Parts: sequence; C-alpha cells; structure tokens
Amino acid sequence: MAKKITVNTIQKYKNNKEKFSVLTAYDYSTAKYIDEAGIDIILIGDSLAMVALGYETTNSIGVCEMEIFTRAVARGTQHAMVITDMPFMSYHKTDAEAVENCGRMIRAGANGVKIEGATPYILNVIKHVTEIGIPVMGHVGFTPQFLNAIGGYNIQGKSYEATLDILEQAKRLEQAGVFAIVLEMVPEESAQYITEHLKVPTISCGAGRYCDAQVLVSDDLFGKFSDFKPKFARKYGDMKSLILSSAKQYNDDVKSGKFPSDAEVFKLDEEALKQLKVH
Ligand code: KIV
Repeated sequence: MAKKITVNTIQKYKNNKEKFSVLTAYDYSTAKYIDEAGIDIILIGDSLAMVALGYETTNSIGVCEMEIFTRAVARGTQHAMVITDMPFMSYHKTDAEAVENCGRMIRAGANGVKIEGATPYILNVIKHVTEIGIPVMGHVGFTPQFLNAIGGYNIQGKSYEATLDILEQAKRLEQAGVFAIVLEMVPEESAQYITEHLKVPTISCGAGRYCDAQVLVSDDLFGKFSDFKPKFARKYGDMKSLILSSAKQYNDDVKSGKFPSDAEVFKLDEEALKQLKVH
C-alpha cells in the first residue's frame, strides 16, 4: 500500500506540476474502493446532503451527520487524505464553536476540513483552525452554502474584475493558512490565471483543465445520482442502471420462487429433519 497522502504530498504535487485527484465518498465501502483506486484526497462533501440524503440544498445537513459519515469514510481509507466539509452554520457563530466543530471531524478520523468562503469573518476562523494544527482546504468561486445570497447556481469570475476578485480572496485564504483551494464554477481561463498566481494548489470543481487538481462528486461519476447532471461532471459508470436491473431481477426471483436457491439456504441434519418431518 502506498504511503498516506498528507499536506506535504499535496504541496509537492503543486511544486512538481503534478496533477492530483479528489473524489467525494460518504460511506465505508465506497471509500475503500476509491482509496484502492489511488485517489489522493477523499472528500466527505456536504453534497451528501443532496445526493445521499435527498435534501434540496447542502444547507440542510448538520455537524452530527457529517461526523457520522466522516467516521465511515475514515474507517475505509488508508492511503488518501480524508477531508470533511464543514457544514452550514458549523463555523459561523463563534471562533470557539468553529474550532470545536472542526476538532470533532478530526476526532472522527478526518485529516483536515474544508471551509467555504473568504469573507473577513471566515478568514479569521480559518486562521484559528489552522493555528491549532487542523489543515484547512478553502473554497471560492461558486460556494453552495451562499446559494441564497448568490441567487442561483451562477458561474463566478466571468469578467476581468471578477477574476481578480476571486484571486484576491484566494490569496487571503493562502495567507490565512489553507493548504489547497477549491475553485467552483469558474471559467477555465480565469481559473488558470488564479492558479498561476498562487503558491497552494487549486482544485477544479467545474473550473476547467488548468487547475492543479480535479474534484467530482462520486455519485455523479458513478452515474448513481440522476436528479440533475452538472455540465462539468463526467459519468464514468451507470450505477443507476445496475441498481435498477439488480433490484428488478431480485423482485422477479423472489416472486417466482427462484430466490433463494439450494446453495443459498441452511439445512438441518438428518436427525433433526426426521423429528420435524419436513421434506
Ligand atoms: O460538497 C462537495 O462535494 C464539494 C465538492 C464538490 C467540492 O464541495
């Protein structure tokens, strides 16, 4: 098994201009396979609110739920760095509460946390969290937890000024101590410009080809989540069809008596069988 990925590995990737991969996972067995596949960072994204729990937005998930899923993913992961998304309202009230909640994810097995936004308040939180030794991944561009304020799933950084604004936010995040920054839904030329002006790596979530890394939601990649498909997501599998056909086949087999078969049942020994008199 390859060595554990750490913040040092991630920075080396940037310095050596080597691309790395980030993928979400929410449960033990998926994390195990993703880890075995060699993914560098496994993210327990708050996207799990939508793709695994069926909420309409990511803002509905809380700290306790994120903690449970973090435990499951951490137990399945040996090689990848495990990062947990800090959910909406888990770092917004006081610094002390932010530190406490980030600490809960580390205790649950995460190697770091992701925090959305770069407002002065959030930068201050990030400084506190990194100062106590918790690696923080930043997230700018489109930030889903700000959906109500942004007013829709809108592409960010579409002009020269808007690109400079995101770069400014990213630089502040860098100064606050983040080890990497997700750029979400940004035109790829803007993302390239931002990436070239940062020391820490950028992770593209719909921000094109020139970031240092790519991230996808695993349910999109596996073809499991079908409520909608973001333009930037690539479907590598068709789990929806697999689940549908397997469940249909099972339903038919149960109803026609084909399941279970002789090989799938436990049998009594002769003596007990005679006593029970079943054939
Ligand atoms: O919640 C999530 O899964 C994310 C990534 C897609 C960046 O934030």
